[in-house]
Amino acid sequence: MTPQKYGYFDDNAREYVITRPDTPLPWLNYLGQDDFFGPITNCAGGYTFYRDAKLRRLTRYRYNDIPYDNNGRYLYVKDGDTVWNPSWKPVRTELDRYECRHGMGYSRFIAEKDGVEIEMLFFIPNEETVELWQTTVRNKSGVKKDLKLFSFLEFCFYEAQNDATNYQRTYSIGEVEVEDGVVYHKTEYRERRDHYTIFGCTRPVDGFDTCRDAFVGIHNGLHDPKVVLAGEAGNSIAHGWNPIGSHQLNLSLEPGAEEQFTFVLGYVVQGDENKFDAPLVMNKSKGKAVMAKYADNASVDAAFESVQERWAELLSNFQVKTPSKEINRMGNTWNQAQCMATFNLSRSASMFETGIGRGMGYRDSNQDLLGFVHLVPEKARQRVLDIAATQMSGGLCFHQYQPLTKKGNADIGGGFMDDHLWLILSTTAYIKETGDTSILDENIGYADQADDAKTGTLLEHLELSIRYCLENRGPHGLPLIGHADWNDCLNLNCFSTEANESFQLAGHGTNDKVAESLMIAGLFCYASDLFAELYNFMGKADDADRIRGNYDEMVSAVETHGWDGKWFLRAYDAFGNPVGSETNEEGKIYIESQGWCVMGGIGLEDGRAQQALDSVHEHLYYEHGCVLQQPPYTNYHVELGEVSSYPPGYKENAGVFCHNNPWIHLGLMKLGDGDRAYEYYLSVCPAAKEDSIDTYRGEPYVYSQMISGKDAPTPGEAKNAWLTGTAAWTFTTVSQGFCGVQPDYSGLKLDPCIPSDWPEFEVTRKFRGATYNIKVINPNGRNKGIQELKINGKPIEGTIIPFAEAGAVVTVEATL
Ligand code: GLC
Ligand code: GLC
Repeated sequence: MTPQKYGYFDDNAREYVITRPDTPLPWLNYLGQDDFFGPITNCAGGYTFYRDAKLRRLTRYRYNDIPYDNNGRYLYVKDGDTVWNPSWKPVRTELDRYECRHGMGYSRFIAEKDGVEIEMLFFIPNEETVELWQTTVRNKSGVKKDLKLFSFLEFCFYEAQNDATNYQRTYSIGEVEVEDGVVYHKTEYRERRDHYTIFGCTRPVDGFDTCRDAFVGIHNGLHDPKVVLAGEAGNSIAHGWNPIGSHQLNLSLEPGAEEQFTFVLGYVVQGDENKFDAPLVMNKSKGKAVMAKYADNASVDAAFESVQERWAELLSNFQVKTPSKEINRMGNTWNQAQCMATFNLSRSASMFETGIGRGMGYRDSNQDLLGFVHLVPEKARQRVLDIAATQMSGGLCFHQYQPLTKKGNADIGGGFMDDHLWLILSTTAYIKETGDTSILDENIGYADQADDAKTGTLLEHLELSIRYCLENRGPHGLPLIGHADWNDCLNLNCFSTEANESFQLAGHGTNDKVAESLMIAGLFCYASDLFAELYNFMGKADDADRIRGNYDEMVSAVETHGWDGKWFLRAYDAFGNPVGSETNEEGKIYIESQGWCVMGGIGLEDGRAQQALDSVHEHLYYEHGCVLQQPPYTNYHVELGEVSSYPPGYKENAGVFCHNNPWIHLGLMKLGDGDRAYEYYLSVCPAAKEDSIDTYRGEPYVYSQMISGKDAPTPGEAKNAWLTGTAAWTFTTVSQGFCGVQPDYSGLKLDPCIPSDWPEFEVTRKFRGATYNIKVINPNGRNKGIQELKINGKPIEGTIIPFAEAGAVVTVEATL
């Protein structure tokens, strides 16, 4: 294991170990996987929320502050005149040792200064609304140490948008109580809230503060808070302004001695009953019960052990051993962790998503599910139903919904004509994973129906999605694009000339009957193929044939009107002119239609699929991935919209938009080209970026939404890590593509496509209760095509591993 510049993978521990705090950007991890979440950076920055980063934010964070990454979970150490933080920030005193271990659902800091070592473990226990900061202080020096420690966090008034903007109100509403050193944050609890927040410590405290101005000072900052510099807590009670939680602990440690205790941040739901013990004195019994639960270190240790066991169990559903350390690292651990995060948080809360902008995206969450369904199928089931319920009876969908209320909204636009089709992908993925077709009968109804008059099963939603697409075709028989498709910057009906207007909200796409999308056409083919397959499995041959007919019709429309000569067109604009064509001056070739038409099975026989992907190689591929289109737009094209608004090489204007790269990888694998697919895979794989990390800058353990393209002045630079559809799709590439392990209706299908120089690889897959230990050997240096398949030593025909009974361990040997 050679340590890299800022850190290294500790594969056995499933950790990324950051060894210096001044990373090229804050590097993030997430705590929690149920209803309680805490984004946490390698400097302990971040915040905590219950379910919804917009509507139930417990602590404050300051986005895009100077420096980056301000506010979080801080502990100050005052050792004589030296003040330092184990997370380096906010004081930034140089440490003798710093290590941040981002692991599965936890982050551990180990820091040392002048012989004092502090270890802080941050995690959220399973299914609890509590965040724990287990803290261990060790005197490693030869002298007695008298230390003063101060914890710090800043409360948020739950509704994060209001909290960050409406100071004429917020500066007057803050209320707290303190009892036994536990801070009870009770803003708005007196009136409409039935919940509050606590911040306590399991060790007796020597003082506290709850008033930010008293603790920090008006003209000081978090890097030099007054109370810490003075070494004396003020025991302040906040009345309005900005409530915080801080405890002072005085520790006297002999050489070699250590102390361990835990800070507890808890979200407590009281309900509407018994809110007060006396006028203005809250009933704290539930908060006290939380503190009691974690009073001794053993209970904290046990809670942490459960978190680790649960992760080990989840990840054991899919494990690989290949000759590629990048695939092993990402596939076994981090790619799955990222899929968990995107499933839970969609595009809501990260270093680039503020938690108040976007909720759960319709298209996003459907795709995220593809990388998650093998982890917790029961949660995936509920998610499919929740998403489907935000479709309207006409066929269009709300583009997003708030996780707290599950109600759809049009805050970030609507009229995206791809949304509804993604539901077919998520639903069939769920059924293939579980065999549970009963989900199709769930009566969820439509978002525009009254709550007591909901009618519409999931199966009817799928039918509607197909029908809506067919009924909304343009002059070439291709699907209308509406406001935009997956590329929500391809705004062919907006014609926006007003700089203060959001492209996502501008214009009235759905009125349009001309602009068409080849990407939606390809997606339709892919989705209708899945749907027909589902009907066949259900024994409904007539329906399967009907859908197959729709498929054929779409394929022929693409063949007739969607081929540009060397690649698939991207679209027709509102005037019927081609987009993504040799005849365009800029934006001649786009990536999405190449990926989706090939994945949709178009051009496999006549060589067009191959030619399209060759064109991708020629025009779009470079060392940091495939860019979205070429050549980039150098001018704003009002008829194309936001796509041409970004500077060349960034975002949708010819950046490497990582999310769409795996579509090309999967397309290549459909054609059997495992070598090129693997080369491309590495080009966007974060684990392959450690040697160029000062260029890449993003976390080397999770995918970013974008890497700057070849036309950018800063090629190869990543932005927007964590919450991207790249996670689910690259996991699909690894698990179902390279490894070829594909859940299916009649068993586990095995159809790998690998680099020819892989001599062999192994996969363990848990599927419907049985464990399949699969070994694939490749004696003849092939890419694809199983020649022989043995189940428990017995050869079988075909490539489907039949179901084994629950609990069985099955040995699978395959030869390419
Ligand atoms: C963002 C959006 C996603 C969209 C993509 C391409 O990642 O979350 O919905 O498809 O950008 O524009
Ligand atoms: C912008 C971005 C796009 C994102 C969208 C979400 O248009 O370019 O990637 O999906 O905003 O609202």
